[in-house]
Amino acid sequence: MEHKLWGGRFAEPTAATMRRFNDSFRFDVRLADVDITGSIAWAGALEQAGLISSAESAALVYGLDLVRDEFAGGRFVSIEGDEDIHTAVERRLRELVGDVALKLHTGRSRNDQVATDMRLFAIKAARQIADRLEALQMALLNQAEEHAATLMPGYTHLQRAQPITFGHWCLAYVEMFDRDRRRIDDATTRTRILPLGAGALAGNSLGVERERLTEALDEFDEVAGNSLDAVSDRDYLAELHFAFALTGVHLSRLAEDLVIYSSTEFAFVELADAYSTGSSLMPQKKNPDSMELLRGKSGRLIGNMIALLTVLKGLPLTYNKDMQEDKEGFFDSLDTLDLSLEVAAAAVATMRARPERMVAALDDAMLATDLADELVRRGVPFREAHGKVGRLVRRSFELRVPLRELPLVEYQAVQPDLDMAIYTTFDFTRSVARKESLGGTAPQRVREQCARWREQLSD
Ligand code: ARG
Repeated sequence: MEHKLWGGRFAEPTAATMRRFNDSFRFDVRLADVDITGSIAWAGALEQAGLISSAESAALVYGLDLVRDEFAGGRFVSIEGDEDIHTAVERRLRELVGDVALKLHTGRSRNDQVATDMRLFAIKAARQIADRLEALQMALLNQAEEHAATLMPGYTHLQRAQPITFGHWCLAYVEMFDRDRRRIDDATTRTRILPLGAGALAGNSLGVERERLTEALDEFDEVAGNSLDAVSDRDYLAELHFAFALTGVHLSRLAEDLVIYSSTEFAFVELADAYSTGSSLMPQKKNPDSMELLRGKSGRLIGNMIALLTVLKGLPLTYNKDMQEDKEGFFDSLDTLDLSLEVAAAAVATMRARPERMVAALDDAMLATDLADELVRRGVPFREAHGKVGRLVRRSFELRVPLRELPLVEYQAVQPDLDMAIYTTFDFTRSVARKESLGGTAPQRVREQCARWREQLSD
């Protein structure tokens, strides 16, 4: 039995090297399930168009379900001629149900077939990543609720800036990952456009009604409006790659914060042993490898995105074999991000915050802005207040005393009407509590945001 889908016009066999180069079965086998889903819908469409009888359609569906079960159960046996998943499924189908299998590909091309498969696969992939993102958001939210009022230094330029709460820090990442989730979801709206029925490139002339296919394949909302674009469009993959890559960038930022915070110098958090590793030489070491790998994996996600864009750039319409290169990178990004998110959620859930270390890292200079605000409340223009407090900070460095230990005369030297009340500024808890603008770090606001997320995420 000849299994090649295109052997007729060829006099000589394909070279073994060419087969190794051309064949995609070893990786596109991951499309088995969606390929069969698409084929079952196609069999129904052929029957509706009167191209096959209902008995033939039933035989095809029966056989395709058997092939699906073989793949699902790890019982599918591939043979040398299985060029790609489409060839393999059709070959096996014929073995199981006989020559009726030869009718399945009526009016269809592997071009619209693979375009449909990848979209179905991408829709599932998007759902899988969105669920992982939500689990990570939950882990961050749990920490945020516990630490809504836990004081810590906030940084700009990685220099101590103003006091914030650890809960507020956690929620910053909840926001980022929420944008990622929405971005992925948005990309899928352009993934739910059905290419099937576009044929090789020009459409089908056998009367297959494409609209009815969207009823059988309910992941799709509409049919592609141009058959040329339908078989050559991989934009939705590029969009998902970007959404995955940006998620990876966010993970790498989270990871970097936690690499820093888990260092002995900071020790704001302790990662669980379960998500750390040791050194083969230095017995004392406990390294934040989970975080370093999260930081590092983002490189692959970005690389895979660039690789796809590079493949697509300059491709003439319509399908070109270059497009077979869309798969491995996407599978790799999906698997990489999936595991990254799983690890990130578990590492965040099991890390222990150390509030005593966070408070110990606060210093009076972080209240300089609060001092300036105090002068503003007394009617000093902010720009002048900034200069006056700057001079006080310089004095505190010169005299080697913290701001709160500078004598009142020093304060009065910059602003004569100041009295002892100015010293009440030196209260980190009060400083944080006052940042009660919407989205601010005041514990009250953080708790409100936690409540909002709790409601939103449990939806
Ligand atoms: N394995 C191919 C791919 O992934 C399937 C489509 C083949 N189409 C073709 N005209 N050779 O793109």
